Amino acid sequence: MHFTDRQGRTVVLDEITDENWRAVADVAPADDQRRFVAALGARYLLLSMRGGLWNSLAVRAGEVVVGHVMWAYDEEGGAHWIGGMIIDAAEQGRGVGRAAISALIARLTALPSCREIRLSYHPRNTPAAHLYTTLGFAPTGDAEDEELVAALPLR
Ligand SMILES: CC(C)(COP(=O)(O)OP(=O)(O)OC[C@H]1O[C@@H](n2cnc3c(N)ncnc32)[C@H](O)[C@@H]1OP(=O)(O)O)[C@@H](O)C(=O)NCCC(=O)NCCS
Repeated sequence: MHFTDRQGRTVVLDEITDENWRAVADVAPADDQRRFVAALGARYLLLSMRGGLWNSLAVRAGEVVVGHVMWAYDEEGGAHWIGGMIIDAAEQGRGVGRAAISALIARLTALPSCREIRLSYHPRNTPAAHLYTTLGFAPTGDAEDEELVAALPLR
C-alpha cells in the first residue's frame, strides 16, 4: 500500500539504521506539545533499544526523516500497540501523521498475530484524538497513566 502526505510526498516507515538514527533522534515536537510526548525522538529510540518490547521506526516523507513512531506486541493482552508518535514540529499539519499511522496500521494488520491495535493519548491532545478517531480508533474506557486507551478492532 502507498501512503502520501498532502504535498504528494510518499510517506514510508523505515527500520532504524546507521544512516537514519541521528535524524530520528533529533525529531522534536513543538514546545507546548512536550506535555504530551517526550521532548525528542531520542527518548523513544533509547526505550526501544533498552527493552525488547518497543520497535522504533523512522517516518520518512520523500527523502526526509520527519518523525518517529514505534509499535509493540502485548502478549498478555493480545494486542499490538502504537506509541511514540512524533512528527517534527516543522513538518506538522501536512498530512504526514495521518499517512504514518495509516502505514503502521497496514503493516501491523498484515501480521497474522494482529487482532487489535491499541494506543493511548492525553485527553487534551485534540489533534491526536482527532487523528486517531477518524482512523477508526474508539476509546475503550481504560486509562494508562493520564491517557485514554483507544482500540482499532480488526478481526
Ligand atoms: C499528532 C501529530 C502526530 C499529528 O501529525 P501531523 O502530521 O501534524 O498530522 P496531519 O497533518 O496528518 O493531520 C492529522 C489530523 O490532525 C489534525 N490536526 C493537526 N494539527 C492539528 C492542530 N494543531 N489542532 C487540531 N487538529 C490538528 C488535522 O486537521 C488532521 O485532520 P484531517 O486529516 O481530518 O484534516 C502531530 O501533531 C505531533 O507530532 N504532535 C506532537 C506529538 C503528539 O502529540 N503525538 C501523539 C501522541 S498520542
